[in-house]
Amino acid sequence: MLLRLATSIAGALAAYVLYRILKIVHAELTSPLRYLPGPKSKHWFFGHDKELRARASGVEERWVERYGRVIRLHQLLSRSQLYIADTKALHHILASTHIYQKSEPVRFSLGRIVGEGLLVVEGDVHRQQNPAFGAPQIRELTGIFVEKSIQLRDIWATQISGDGGIARVEIVSWLSKATLDIIGLADRPDELSAAFDVLFRTETQFSLMRAIQAFCPIFRPIPLPIDKISRQSHATMRRIGRELLADSKRDIAETGTFETGQARDLLNLLVPTFFIAGHETTSTAMAWALFALTQNMGAQARLREELLSVETDSPSMEDLNSLPYLDCVVRETLRANAPVTNTSRIALCDDIVPLSTPFTDTRGTVQETLRIRKGDTIIVPILALNRDKEIWGPDAMEFIPERWESATPISNALPTMWGQMLTFLGGPRGCIGYRFSLVEMKALLFTLVRSFEFELAVPITDIGKRPVGVVQKPFLIGDPDAGNQLPLLVRPAARL
Ligand code: HEM
Repeated sequence: MLLRLATSIAGALAAYVLYRILKIVHAELTSPLRYLPGPKSKHWFFGHDKELRARASGVEERWVERYGRVIRLHQLLSRSQLYIADTKALHHILASTHIYQKSEPVRFSLGRIVGEGLLVVEGDVHRQQNPAFGAPQIRELTGIFVEKSIQLRDIWATQISGDGGIARVEIVSWLSKATLDIIGLADRPDELSAAFDVLFRTETQFSLMRAIQAFCPIFRPIPLPIDKISRQSHATMRRIGRELLADSKRDIAETGTFETGQARDLLNLLVPTFFIAGHETTSTAMAWALFALTQNMGAQARLREELLSVETDSPSMEDLNSLPYLDCVVRETLRANAPVTNTSRIALCDDIVPLSTPFTDTRGTVQETLRIRKGDTIIVPILALNRDKEIWGPDAMEFIPERWESATPISNALPTMWGQMLTFLGGPRGCIGYRFSLVEMKALLFTLVRSFEFELAVPITDIGKRPVGVVQKPFLIGDPDAGNQLPLLVRPAARL
């Protein structure tokens, strides 16, 4: 009896898997994407996944040079997917949120990390949160950004004096602590960081069964050993969020005002989405900013000179925003080292996409528009377009803050919500926290670059970039197992 039941279940599962495979094969054979130019799939199962993970190596730029701006790539199980670097097409895709959304497998995988937060829900809900990140709120929060930056400065200063005037500082972990601290987690950065680390490592390591679950929802109820670990990490984050919310309410009740509660307004939004969307992104951007400044010592010196011209150690948002070279450095960091390097969308219905430039398909026919079918997935290459030589000029790959000094916009080509670049994406689903990050980065750079000189502590050839969750972090090529890190030599800055 038991055997017959097991056989029936196995038979049903096998039939389901066969049905899914046939569906994929049929979709591939009839896909409008099959005549698009593009590189051959490197692996029957992984498709171009491996190359896309190593995107910092410049593979995308080579594809665009060779195949044009509308490219067919292969995703898991060698299914076709679109890589679009055509700016008119991207305007259309990012504006048409009723047609193009995050795919269900992406939302499932992202949801495993961030929970059912704003990043994964579709619909109008997210726009209602926007007021929490308007200029008046960020102005109030600037005091916290500066205060926490000063605390980090003092820790590094102590380390430097203990080490005889120059210290080797691993900045990735310190910046991560500082940005956690800024969102109100002063007491528990270690506990929270540990929960993050475990969750990221668990959910981003390749697991065949997890990949199957992403694409075949029927398998999702099957418990995996990693589920328990992820559940524990989520529970830790939720508990900390709840405790912070309780603190916030208590503050407000005790003072009868929002004065102290203001700092904690943020905590009302403290769910894993905000831990990850707001903290990982900004701390990574800061690590790349300091890295870039070690590779352009002229820019570092010029920035310091500007910062030292400010009299106060505690600038307001307006003070920070009035420093032109600081603004250039932040813009150039976010352009050349966009922390989120790409995103993707799925078409909910058939569509005809307009193009800036017609392309020739593999049959030799010139196509003025692009035909998309319901279910097609599209890669939006954020970093590659931020460093596109046709848009930014031949020095697009280099970190040159001066390019932002021109009064006229460099380019209006990209569908963006800030800074002419795709870093925070554009359209209705663009980043809601960009003002927060900009001022936070400015406060950290203001305090740290005013006080210290930075130099890379290892040869540049030892610095690698790898995807960690939604961002690209630095690591040491010679010591990949030691985690994400960026060691810098830090010494007190000579006061002018
Ligand atoms: C340098 C820092 C940041 C970068 C590079 C960044 C980048 C992005 C990008 C590219 C998206 C679009 C993702 C997609 O739809 O595929 C996004 C969405 C989002 N970001 Fe940010 N972000 C940053 C900081 C922040 C901060 C500080 C917060 C919150 C405090 C935040 C909250 C969000 C949320 C909630 C969304 C989802 C919006 C939606 O789907 O409607 N981000 N961000």
